[in-house]
Formats: sequence, C-alpha cells, structure tokens
Amino acid sequence: MNMAKTKTHTRFVCQQCGRVSASYMGKCPQCSAFDSMVEEVVHDEPVAKGPANVRGLTGRSIPHPISEIGGEAEDRIHLPIGEFARVLGGGIVPGSIILVGGDPGIGKSTLLLQMAMEMADKKRVLYVSGEESERQIKMRAVRLVNGVGAQRDEQASKSLDGSAVSLNLPNNLLLVTETNLEVILNHVRDSKPDLLIVDSIQTVYLSELDSSAGSVSQVRECSSHLRELAKSSGISVFMIGHVTKDGAIAGPRVLEHIVDTVLYLEGDRFQAYRLLRSVKNRFGATAEVGVFEMREGGLVEVTNPSEAFLAERLVNAAGSAIAVTMEGTRPILVEIQGLTSPTQFGNARRTPNGVDFNRLLLITAVLTRRVGLKLAEHDVFVNVVGGIQIDEPAADLAIAAAIASSWKDVPVRAEAVLIGEIGLAGELRMPGQMVARLREAQKLGFKTAIVPRAIRSPHSGGMGSEYPKGIEIIEVRSLDQALDAALKKSK
Ligand code: TYD
Ligand code: MG
Repeated sequence: MNMAKTKTHTRFVCQQCGRVSASYMGKCPQCSAFDSMVEEVVHDEPVAKGPANVRGLTGRSIPHPISEIGGEAEDRIHLPIGEFARVLGGGIVPGSIILVGGDPGIGKSTLLLQMAMEMADKKRVLYVSGEESERQIKMRAVRLVNGVGAQRDEQASKSLDGSAVSLNLPNNLLLVTETNLEVILNHVRDSKPDLLIVDSIQTVYLSELDSSAGSVSQVRECSSHLRELAKSSGISVFMIGHVTKDGAIAGPRVLEHIVDTVLYLEGDRFQAYRLLRSVKNRFGATAEVGVFEMREGGLVEVTNPSEAFLAERLVNAAGSAIAVTMEGTRPILVEIQGLTSPTQFGNARRTPNGVDFNRLLLITAVLTRRVGLKLAEHDVFVNVVGGIQIDEPAADLAIAAAIASSWKDVPVRAEAVLIGEIGLAGELRMPGQMVARLREAQKLGFKTAIVPRAIRSPHSGGMGSEYPKGIEIIEVRSLDQALDAALKKSK
C-alpha cells in the first residue's frame, strides 16, 4: 500500500458518457450534462498496487475446493451489542468493510464509539476521527461509561473528575484525529488493530487527488483503499458516511457497491428512537433492523420495540390505530395517528409524518371515493408515533382507519390491530408474513386482528390456516368492511 511512491496523475471523466478531460468542466462538451465530471486516478504502471488494478493481480489467485474454504458462522467476531449484531447478521465478519450512513447528528459516532468500547475488551480497535479531537472523543467515552455503566459502577459515576473514571476505559482502544489516508494507513500498519473505524469517510483524503475531501472522487478512491486494506489484512473496517440532501458532499450512495454491508441509522432527531437498518449485506439478511433509544448515556438497546412504541398510547381516543409492520424478519407494532380538520384557506393539505406522501394521497383518495368520507375540504395529518418511518403497504389499513376514526370521531376498537394493503378499488390485499405479525400482536395482548380475507387453496390449506389460535381474526374484503368492523364498539 505504498501508493505515495506510485507515480500517479488524475483525469476527469464524465459519469454520463465517459468523456475524458484533463481539467474539470462544469458542462460536458460531449453529452452536455452538467456537473458530471469526476476526478479519477490514473495509475502509470499497469500492475500498480491499489484497488483500481485489482484485476491486474493475475497469478495470485488460486481456485480452491469449496469444502476447504473458511467462512463458517464461527468465524464472526462476537459483538456484545445484540441489536447491532442482529443487523450485521450475527457478528462482525473479519476483513469486511461496513458503511454506517445517516443524517448528521443522528448518533453514528456515538454508536460506533460504543461498539469500539465494547469490542476493546477482546480486540484491538483503532478509531480514526476527522471530525472531533481525541479529547472530545474521550469526553464522550467517559459520558458513555458513566451513563451505561452507572448501575454497574455507581462510584465511578459520582466522580466528576474524568481521570478517575478513565480507569474504566479500555487500553485496547486507540484514538487518533487524522484525515490524510496515507497517514491513517501507516497508523494501521503500526498499531495492527482488528477493527478500524473511520469517522467519517467524507473527511479523509488522498493527497494525489486534487479534489477536496468529501468529493465523489475522494470518497470513492479512499473507500477503495480501505476496502483493499480490509481484504488484504483481515481487518474489519467501519466507515461512517453522512447523507446530505444537496449534492455538495458525496453521499454514501457512491460507496454502496464498494462496501460489503450498508447500514443506515435512522430516526427523528427530536425523538429518542433510532433504527439501524441494513440495506445491503453480503453476510446476512438485508432489511434487518435494530432498535435503539438515544439517552443521556448513549444508545440503549430496545429489545421489545412494540412495547416501547405503544407505551404512550391513549386507549379509546379517536384517530389512533395499531399497525403491525415488518422490519426485516421482525414484526413491530406501531401506533398510527390521524387527524382531520376543516381546511381554512385554499387547498386541503395532506401532511404525513412517518409515512410516504404519495401513499397518504392514495389512501385519502380511496377513503373519499370508495368509502364516501368527504375529505376534499379537510386537512389530513398522519403521524407514526415514535418517529419511525413506515414504507410498508401493510400499514395502509391502519392509516386509513386512523383517518376515518378522526373524521367520524369514533375510536378504533382498542384491542384490535389492523393489517392490510389497500388497492385503488378499495379492496384489501394480503401482505406477507401474516403469522409472524399476528403472533406479535397476540404477544402484546391484542385480542382482535382485522385482516384481508385469505385465499385458501385446496392443497396447502392456504394462507390463514396456520394463524395463531388465541387471537380473533376478522377477515374482510374491502376497506369499507374493515372500517365497519374497526369503528364499532367492542362487545
Ligand atoms: P453523534 O453520534 O455525534 O451523531 P453523528 O455522528 O451521527 O453526527 O450524536 C449526536 C447527538 O447525540 C447529539 O445531538 C447528542 C446526542 N447524544 C445523546 O443524547 N446522548 C449521548 O450519550 C451522546 C454521546 C450523544
Ligand atoms: Mg459524528
């Protein structure tokens, strides 16, 4: 990895049409695309080291029988934070490269520092930060030890003197503030960590590129080098990446194909819950979700999210319905709130929080046309309690019920959950994994589930034959019937 010695120069390549230019151009002269030129490194030697020439490594690879190749589940490094391990597919794979993306301030640095401290018990961890000084990170670590370890070590938490507390901090966790990637790689060579954390990929740079840190070319080249490091040394590399709305800083999307695993930390910044979601994972199921709560002492695992999300629910209030949404393989119950109020000026507004805007438009349109709710002159607000985002159409029915319940001012049956996707004709469709959803509802004490009618095939017994017994299933065909069942007083 002595790329400093490799003679390199760079060129600019249009990402749309491939036109090459020696200097940056705002508009591509060939395809007229704007801002499409990205700087790329050109390696002078054909078999130079570096990820751009991985294909040049001929002669090094030898085919092996599949039975003799390592890679069993036991090879993973145990990660004591269960919710994090779940999302990774059961632990950290040595030599893997993992991107943790998310909005600024959501808790990425906190999560990875917590992980680093947990791992430093058994493994050597190098935490490289381009955003905070070593002192700042240390202060955060002390805060985390005080917060999380408060019950474990009350004496320590009482001590205001940081140095006394630092006795609890692991020696195996090395911190450095650095943004030059060559220097970082030297640090890695010297300190030989098992785990490397780079916070964040947008702050590191290679001096051979003219572009500034955070540009598409820097982000891409730096992460390729880190990937090469992971693959050749067996070090597991975690990179933090900020997602920004404007294109000024390269978002982690550029990196998604370079890394093995992409995790997103999501949540509403003004609410406590954080979802760690895997959107790509070469070593496990995707769409797996870990749930955390941001507290004074850092991120705390939420092992029973349904309970947490329903904790503040007002039973028998109009405009509230319970949906069962699947986050990966895990069913989660969430409260959906709806509010309709007469429009004061101009056009009626549709304001979703936690559900997709177009989905809300569709549901209100179906409620208007197929159920006869006169929503045209009403503003409609929908809110998912807990600050999580629901993308699943299986929550349609609960959203519709929350709106209808508010409009009619009749509460939804308190002991019922609603599951189902709404079609344009007002019909209900069956979402997947019904059994898991119903089990979770039953586990949390719900007595009734309003669901689409199952199509029973004569061969398998079909969907619905293996529903759990202890919960009453009300099967309905249409949204109209579902609302009839949901908005009537329970016996
Ligand atoms: P941070 O990890 O710095 O976010 P990111 O790296 O994604 O930009 O976390 C930022 C927020 O987390 C900050 O606003 C304060 C909050 N926080 C807590 O509430 N408790 C804590 O123990 C810590 C360390 C942070
Ligand atoms: Mg940070």
